[in-house]
Amino acid sequence: MKTKVTELFKIKHPIIQAPMAGGITTSKLVSAVSNAGGLGMIGAGYLSPTQLREQIRDIKKQTSNVFGVNLFVPGVYSIDEKAIDSANKLLAPIRQMLSIPTPNTVSYDDSGKVFEEQVQVLLEEEVAVCSFTFGLPSSSIIDEMKRQQIQLIGTATNVQEAISCEKAGMDAIVVQGSEAGGHRGTFNDNYEGSLIGLMSLIPQVRDHVQVPIIAAGGIMDGRGLLASIHLGAEAVQMGTAFLTTIESGAHPIHKKAILVATEEETVVTRSFSGKPARGLKNRYIEELQPFESDLPDFPIQNTLTQDIRKAATNQENAHFMSLWSGQSPRLAREVSVEEVMNSTIAQAEAILKNTLNLI
Ligand SMILES: Cc1cc2nc3c(=O)[nH]c(=O)nc-3n(C[C@H](O)[C@H](O)[C@H](O)COP(=O)(O)O)c2cc1C
Repeated sequence: MKTKVTELFKIKHPIIQAPMAGGITTSKLVSAVSNAGGLGMIGAGYLSPTQLREQIRDIKKQTSNVFGVNLFVPGVYSIDEKAIDSANKLLAPIRQMLSIPTPNTVSYDDSGKVFEEQVQVLLEEEVAVCSFTFGLPSSSIIDEMKRQQIQLIGTATNVQEAISCEKAGMDAIVVQGSEAGGHRGTFNDNYEGSLIGLMSLIPQVRDHVQVPIIAAGGIMDGRGLLASIHLGAEAVQMGTAFLTTIESGAHPIHKKAILVATEEETVVTRSFSGKPARGLKNRYIEELQPFESDLPDFPIQNTLTQDIRKAATNQENAHFMSLWSGQSPRLAREVSVEEVMNSTIAQAEAILKNTLNLI
């Protein structure tokens, strides 16, 4: 299946493994996807520049094929001590349940500085592909990366964002439907307005931009791949399908929660990070739900809940972990990356041969 995306990134199959920040996109996962003919992506949102450099070098030892890196574009946020105090009050009973102390102070990285250093690492390490979420970088960063022939991918959750991505010079656009697991990439609107299903979103974006579209959200197999291509996309970006693979670094409890989940169990919540993200509903989300709109913005809330998520993971307590998942958990399987890649392509080809379900 050759498309503009396979040509652009010099990959065999139009399948991109979603970057998943937070330790899921191990070098093993990324290199296995690239070795199987897809595009492996490092979710570098929470990596320090040093960690990012190390992982890029590690992956280069495991594959000679192309792979990419995803960065979080920093937004404006304020450190509002009053909002932080009230968030900590809400979190206190949860900390008590997990037997962790209330932190006296929390330090926040300068996300703007970290982002610029991450970009510098990509330039120095000559990474072939870079995708962005949560917004677009400055034109000077885009120009510099383009001068070094790095292929750039933006993320859009509505038509206007897709147009902005194209205008800014992105070579391709991830079109993220409301089905998608993890954080919403929305950057020009309130997120509720931009929770648009992929089947609506792809053709509307297609009619407004020229650059290739990469469909993301709920795609787990050849049916989703082919449907996306028919709607106007040139590739898919699959997250949840790769999260449960053997090579993924997701905690076994996270994998298991997805493997037994049903399609009605996910919700979009701001409660873990301050940014809306889709994950499996659990006790933490339910308890914070009435106060969601008062919680501090990303990355403040994310920093505040770090100790909770860490303790819950160490204690293997799924009630208080962030269990990001897309809306198709019933299609998730605990198999190798190679199996996901091969079966997705084989199924898409079989459907093409059999002209779908027409009688
Ligand atoms: C656990 C998890 C973490 C994610 N982290 C990122 C990220 O760091 N950067 C990004 O651009 N998208 C991230 N996403 C969103 C994916 O790029 C993609 O939109 C989503 O996985 C598609 O939906 P699906 O999970 O149903 O395949 C994440 C998704 C998941 C499930």
